[in-house]
Amino acid sequence: MTKHNESWGSRVGLVLAMAGNAVGLGNFLRFPVQAIQNGGGSFIIPYLICFLLMGLPLLFVEWSMGRFGGRFGHHSTPFILDSMSKQRFWKYIGVFGIFTNLAVAAYYCYLESWTLAYIYHSVVGTFSPMDQTQVSSFFDNYTDITTSTTGIPYEAVIFWLLCLFLNTYILSRGLSGGVEKVAKIGMPLLILFGIILAIKAVTLKAGSEGAINDGTVGLEFLWTPDLKSIWNPTVWLAAAGQIFFTLSVGMGSIQCYASYLRSRDDIALNAMSAGWMNEFVEVVLGGSIVISITVGYFGIEGMTNLVSQVGGLGLGFRTLPYLFQQWGPILAVVAGIFWFGLLFFAGITSSLAMGTPFMGFLRDEFGMSREKAAWSFGLFILILGAPAVFFFKQGVFDEFDYWAGTVSLVVFALFEIILFAWVFGMEKGWAEITSGADIKVPRIFKFIIKFITPLLLGAVFIGSLPGIWDKLTADTNGAVIFGRFLLLGVWIGVAVMVYIAYRKRVKEGRFTS
Ligand code: PHE
Repeated sequence: MTKHNESWGSRVGLVLAMAGNAVGLGNFLRFPVQAIQNGGGSFIIPYLICFLLMGLPLLFVEWSMGRFGGRFGHHSTPFILDSMSKQRFWKYIGVFGIFTNLAVAAYYCYLESWTLAYIYHSVVGTFSPMDQTQVSSFFDNYTDITTSTTGIPYEAVIFWLLCLFLNTYILSRGLSGGVEKVAKIGMPLLILFGIILAIKAVTLKAGSEGAINDGTVGLEFLWTPDLKSIWNPTVWLAAAGQIFFTLSVGMGSIQCYASYLRSRDDIALNAMSAGWMNEFVEVVLGGSIVISITVGYFGIEGMTNLVSQVGGLGLGFRTLPYLFQQWGPILAVVAGIFWFGLLFFAGITSSLAMGTPFMGFLRDEFGMSREKAAWSFGLFILILGAPAVFFFKQGVFDEFDYWAGTVSLVVFALFEIILFAWVFGMEKGWAEITSGADIKVPRIFKFIIKFITPLLLGAVFIGSLPGIWDKLTADTNGAVIFGRFLLLGVWIGVAVMVYIAYRKRVKEGRFTS
């Protein structure tokens, strides 16, 4: 079988695509809510420490693993991991790096499709005559696909299909012809929209436009460090979970993107650029918009209560579209387009990244064309996503998010850091990280990657066990159980495909490394 030839068009394109992979709905919807639930200033210190001691090291590791595997023509984690060790079981650990992307994409594309619908409703002014409760219940009606109170029958399903189609089509155009183009347009626009909204948010004045607080009160909430939380394990778990999700580490998509690099290409500076860009977008933009506006209108306590009432996605979809109306009819439309447009670009550059590992696998192992691989991914997400769409209210969406978007990342990250630092070996690993590097990587990272990151990951893993146990033993409904088994089935299905691919390689005498 010939190696499939696909590559990045330019360095700027690559870094923007990698940043686009990381910058996602997690930055604007998940981060603020995590910060609010964990006390604002008490969240930010564990969060930043997790970034430095787990996030950055894992970025270096994943980028170099990807570039390393790419040399042997591997573009997904099963055989990338396989090429790093003689032991055969690593390729099954690599199953996580395809599984997670499929399972996250299954609910993520649905969430992404809401942003399209909300852009539409912002433009046509659906929210303008509504009061706070009406805007909030609009969301319930929208996600309740059995009714069509939003005006368009099966609206949520239609936007979901549209969004899936868009993703599949762009993926079928390839990395430089599709993904990179979207990142080059989407990322600058997203940052522009984000900066404008953040400025508007932090300059809110108490007493004008209905606000009760200055926008800066929200900033103080987030940026007044509270050292007590250092002793609270729940805050640490939340912080670590957020770092994994937002940087897309422990997923397998970074390895896939990096596998399309040439072996002399820099990874150190690229990884740093994409990682820091994500952090800028997350803590500066993601941290200002939602929190400043909500504190501006409801105060800190009001905001915290609101989050516990309306849940994680509530602020972005139930509250902001209402608050934008306080800024007058024109600004409300502009703010709605900017906010949901920004979310859309953040979402699509991430969901595209989720498609590539599975596609790379199908192309490497089964010789599929790019188009065919892309449509296979689209079809798969259609089937796997359907329960999250149709049983959203029953909690299938959240169930997927828990297993794929939270637990699976930690498990995979723990295994891969052990493989990299201890099996592949830190000397070789360090040589990989620094080869072709355009910056001098601080040597302290060698120590951190070998000792600190694995220890912390181990601690996070052990710390999450009680939560996993609670989840498994809690009473739940049939749809959720079904979703759970479905995920298990996907994992096993991918593992079987890896086994078949491996047998095929043996038969054809193709070595895996
Ligand atoms: N990092 C993305 C976000 O913050 C999510 C993501 C998950 C991206 C899996 C790629 C792969 O929303």
